[in-house]
Amino acid sequence: MIDKTVRDIELSEKIVIVRVDFNVPFKPDTNEISSLNRIIASLPTIRYLIEENASVVLCSHLGRPKGVFRKDLSLNLVLPKLQALLGVNVKFSSSLDFSEIKKGISELLPKEVMLLENLRFYPEEELNDKDFSKKLANLADVFVNDAFGVSHRAHASVYGITNWITPVSGLLLEKEYISLSKIFESHSHPVSIILGGGKVSDKINIVKRLLNVVDKIFVGGGMAATFLKAKGLQVGNSIVDDQFIGVVNKLASDSLYIPLDVVVSDRFEDSGNIRICSVNDIKTDEMIMDIGPKTIDSYIKEIEKSKTIFWNGPMGVYEWNNYSKGTRAIAEKVSEDKFISVIGGGSTVDAISKFGYESLMTHISTGGGASLEFLEGQLLPGIEPLLRKNSEGD
Ligand code: 3PG
Repeated sequence: MIDKTVRDIELSEKIVIVRVDFNVPFKPDTNEISSLNRIIASLPTIRYLIEENASVVLCSHLGRPKGVFRKDLSLNLVLPKLQALLGVNVKFSSSLDFSEIKKGISELLPKEVMLLENLRFYPEEELNDKDFSKKLANLADVFVNDAFGVSHRAHASVYGITNWITPVSGLLLEKEYISLSKIFESHSHPVSIILGGGKVSDKINIVKRLLNVVDKIFVGGGMAATFLKAKGLQVGNSIVDDQFIGVVNKLASDSLYIPLDVVVSDRFEDSGNIRICSVNDIKTDEMIMDIGPKTIDSYIKEIEKSKTIFWNGPMGVYEWNNYSKGTRAIAEKVSEDKFISVIGGGSTVDAISKFGYESLMTHISTGGGASLEFLEGQLLPGIEPLLRKNSEGD
């Protein structure tokens, strides 16, 4: 059980640092945000803190800049959307120097909000560096973790900081914890997992572990190429995580489904020479953009037999019409009310709401990897410090 949330503590005139997950998805090849879901989900906590007369300091990561500044991953890009949704002016702290940041925060009045620059511009964030965690903790009187989406990462702003300042849960993190715990305790078999999108490196270990506990795993989207290449197939210009080919090879199982056919194009655009082909027939200058019709039919036939479905990662480049059929068809099936359905992750949620199925799912989670690891029964590093000590196994 969550020990304390923002509702349980005194906040008036306190400086409150809130870890949010503003890792929003962007439209392919642009810096236009494609889904505001994660920002919207964080608003109740921010509004609550403002009402309670706190000075609010928001911090988040965006993308994977690997410890260096990148203009295209600055949280400045999120600022206009955040301000518009929140309806108040939000200051932006572009500095990466802690004494400057601290000075800016000291000038914040109660009810004012400031957004810090992308935490992953500091290499120390992902390393869970002790001094960096302490510096973050020293910025505020209160630390609120509302970043469910990144609670599976033992990073400084999620985990290390809690060694220096007692964390309390935000309203979003509490809501995710309660809903997912209920589903975890009561879900029934057969359980199917649908995995797409990129991030093969993250998901491969989850696939390895989940093969023992779930009934079927369906692979599509950006992950498919690595699985197909591991079977010795030609995948053209599709992005492959070569270092995982060996691991994928060892995963052969009757419970693991990979595409039979795919939609390919010779350009990463909503045009080009587009065709549907068997996975045995991808040309060297082509790339996989979606799962094909035979794959859709076979996945849907198997998904039909499920009782519980977890879905993380789209089946193709759903943002472009020519490659949206796979994601749309799977969304339509999963939305049927006979299933317990959990949808996780920025892009998947964006796809589901774009196609109009959002309200039909059992739970829409802001976490992709986080919701999968939670449902696997893992005690997540960002959640563990928030739990009541005698109920950690809850
Ligand atoms: C997510 O998008 O799943 C979270 O924001 C975590 O991001 P990460 O996978 O880059 O750690």
